[in-house]
Amino acid sequence: MSLPKVFVTRRIPDAGLDLLQNRASIEIWTERQPPPYKVLQDKIRDIDGLLCLLTDRIDKNLIELGTSLKVISQMAVGYDNIDVAAATARGIPIGNTPGVLTEATADLTWALLMAASRKIVEAERFVREGRWQTWEPMLLLGADVAGATLGIVGFGRIGQAVARRAKGFDMRVLYWNRHRCEIGLERELGVEYASFEQLLEESDFVSIHVALFQETYYLFDRPQFDSMKPSAILINTARGAIVNPDALYDAIHTGKIAGAALDVTEPEPILPDSPLLSLPNLLIVPHIGSASIKTRSQMALMAAQNLIAGLQGECLPNCVNPEVYERKQ
Ligand code: DGY
Repeated sequence: MSLPKVFVTRRIPDAGLDLLQNRASIEIWTERQPPPYKVLQDKIRDIDGLLCLLTDRIDKNLIELGTSLKVISQMAVGYDNIDVAAATARGIPIGNTPGVLTEATADLTWALLMAASRKIVEAERFVREGRWQTWEPMLLLGADVAGATLGIVGFGRIGQAVARRAKGFDMRVLYWNRHRCEIGLERELGVEYASFEQLLEESDFVSIHVALFQETYYLFDRPQFDSMKPSAILINTARGAIVNPDALYDAIHTGKIAGAALDVTEPEPILPDSPLLSLPNLLIVPHIGSASIKTRSQMALMAAQNLIAGLQGECLPNCVNPEVYERKQ
């Protein structure tokens, strides 16, 4: 019996590829850049399974070309690059990788928060540029983290993991979420539920942990920056398009907020001539929230498990559109 055909849109950690060996006939796109859309169009006509990344645009047109496509497995927890409704309409399950990247992403959030508050990148540059000549009482003064107020926007797994870390810093933690969580969990984590407006007004650090949907697109725009403290620092490890980049530039440039630390940008990658790059109090890293060796291996393994389940006609262990199974019953 011939093996099902699979296209993997980039080289992923061996933990995932090893699992696919002997279970599927695999073609891997080995370039550093994602496959162009045209390549995806060619490949999808002929495959049973697609293992993709957040950099691949999996839209309605593409999904409709996949006449033998049985499963789409994304190696990420976010899936805003995929037209879920189009896949669901065709009965194609979509897999993602929740849970395994929670701690790594929360760690990076804290790395950014600490680095931005204490100007670590500026300070490092200062030393390398040979400008360190003496101890100066007013040099590179940053903001205190201990005792400050942290506002967490979106209180799913990652938001909660960020809150857990804040306990060690004796912070007041406000959170805003579509649904308030149980009092028991609030007490355990030492957090207070706040309206979005209150959180913006009272937080020294605002950290974004919502998914990107229509409702969260540009959730941070000019009015939101107007409401924040001039000393506030924004951290975004979720999705770039949750923040309007022009509004963010103006807010930092005019001192409406003190700075920002971004793991994600809009567009991504950031354009080399983006005005944001001219701001000394803006720190940007290239979407590395989940980039630890262990986490990326676990993500690759989970993506492979979802893919295999889909190829075998079984329910995906992590499925973003389980309604495809209801329709099949
Ligand atoms: C995700 O999984 O959605 C992250 O952005 C990348 O790990």
